[in-house]
Amino acid sequence: MGPDSVALLCGARLATRSADTQFPFRQDSDFHYLTGFDHPHAVAVLRTDGGPAFTLYVEPRQRDAETWTGHRPGVEGAVRDYGADEAHPIEELSGHVPGLIERARRLLFILGRDAALDARLTETLEQMRLRSRTGVVPASEIADPRAILHEMRLFKEPAEIEIMRRAAAITLAAHRATAPGARAGRFEYELEAMLEYHFRKRGASGPAYGTIVGGGANATVLHYVSNRARLRDGDLVLIDAGCELEGYASDVTRSYPVGGRFEGPGAAIYDIVLEAQEASIAAAKPGATLEDVHTAAVRRLTEGMVSLGLLAGEVDGLVESGAYKAYYMHRTSHWLGLDVHDVGAYTCEGRPRALEPGMVFTVEPGLYVRMDEEKADPRLHGIGVRIEDNLLVTADGHENLTAAIAKRPRDVEAWVVGS
Ligand code: GLY
Ligand code: MN
Ligand code: MN
Repeated sequence: MGPDSVALLCGARLATRSADTQFPFRQDSDFHYLTGFDHPHAVAVLRTDGGPAFTLYVEPRQRDAETWTGHRPGVEGAVRDYGADEAHPIEELSGHVPGLIERARRLLFILGRDAALDARLTETLEQMRLRSRTGVVPASEIADPRAILHEMRLFKEPAEIEIMRRAAAITLAAHRATAPGARAGRFEYELEAMLEYHFRKRGASGPAYGTIVGGGANATVLHYVSNRARLRDGDLVLIDAGCELEGYASDVTRSYPVGGRFEGPGAAIYDIVLEAQEASIAAAKPGATLEDVHTAAVRRLTEGMVSLGLLAGEVDGLVESGAYKAYYMHRTSHWLGLDVHDVGAYTCEGRPRALEPGMVFTVEPGLYVRMDEEKADPRLHGIGVRIEDNLLVTADGHENLTAAIAKRPRDVEAWVVGS
C-alpha cells in the first residue's frame, strides 16, 4: 500500500434471488482473501498512517436477527476470531469516515461498488478541501486496490496450494463416482446431481461454476448449463465440473463415452484433443507463457482437423489465418484460484507474461463440430470434446493437480464401466 495510505474494502451483500428469498451468500473473493470474514455486509479498513492496521465494520450480534438467519461473529468475534485490531458495527462506518481518512495521503478504494460509501468519501474529501486553509490536507489520490490485490492472488501461497490440491481430490472423487452414470437413458441432470452430491458430501461448498453436462451435440455448446437431455448410446457426454473448497475453485472437463466404449469419429476426435492437451501441458514451465501453451494446442488441433478432413491446406497457413477457430473458438487457459476465471494480468508491458512458480491455470483444449456445420462431414456433426486439467507452475516445470482424473481412453472406459 505504501506509507500514509488507508484502504477501505467492501465485502459482498446478500443478493435477492426472487421476492424475499436470497441467493446463498458468497463472500467477495478479494475480501475473503484479505480477511477470511465470510459474512454479509462488512467493510475492512487497512491503514499505514499510524492508525489501527486492520479494522472491521460488521453486522453486530442481534438475537432476533440471528434467530432467523443464524450466527453472526459480531464485533467481538471480528476481533477474537479474525485478527482485527478493532471492530465496530457497520452502521457506524459512515460517521467514522472523516476520522479514518483525515491523515491519509492516498486512499485505496474501489469506486462504484457502494453508492452510499462513494458519496460519503467524496463529500468528506470535499469538506476537507474547504478547510485546507486551516492545515487540513485531503488525500491527493484514490487508487484501485485491485492492482495490488490481484497480483498477490495470482501467486498462490503453500496454504492456498494445499486447498487447491484438496479441491482437485474432491473433484476427482466426484468425476469417478459419476462416470458410471454415462449410460443411455440417463438424464444429464442426474449426472449433475451426482457430481454435486459428491462435492458436498466431501466437504466442498458446491460447484465452483455452473456444472456443464452435455450429451451428444450439447457438448458443442460451450456454456451449456440446462443439462436436461437424455443420454444416448454411442454419444460422448462432456462433463465440465469442479468443486469450490474453502473459496478455491477446481475446473475440470472430461468427455465420457456413453455406454463405456470410445468408437468411430468420436474416438478419433477424442485422441486429437488428448494429444493437443498433452502437448500444451508439456509446454507449461517457468519462463514459458500461456500463449506458448495455447499455440501448442492450436498446432496439434489444426493438424487433427486436417487429418479428419475438417480443414484443407497447410497447417501453418491454417494456424496463421485462424481457420481452426471454426472448430476451436476459445482460449486454452485461464488463471484459477478464488475465482474460476481468476484475477491477475495476462500481459506485461503488452506482451504475454512469463509463467512463474505459484501460478495456477487451466489447460483445456477442445474440438467442437456443430450440428449445422455445413462444411464438415455429417458423420462428425454434433461431436464436442474438451479435456481440462489444472496446473501449478513449479520451480522446474509444473504439477498437474488433476492428473489422476482418468483421461487416457482405456482409463476413461474403465471408469464408465465401473472397474
Ligand atoms: N468451466 C469454465 C471454464 O472451463 O472456463
Ligand atoms: Mn471448465
Ligand atoms: Mn476452465
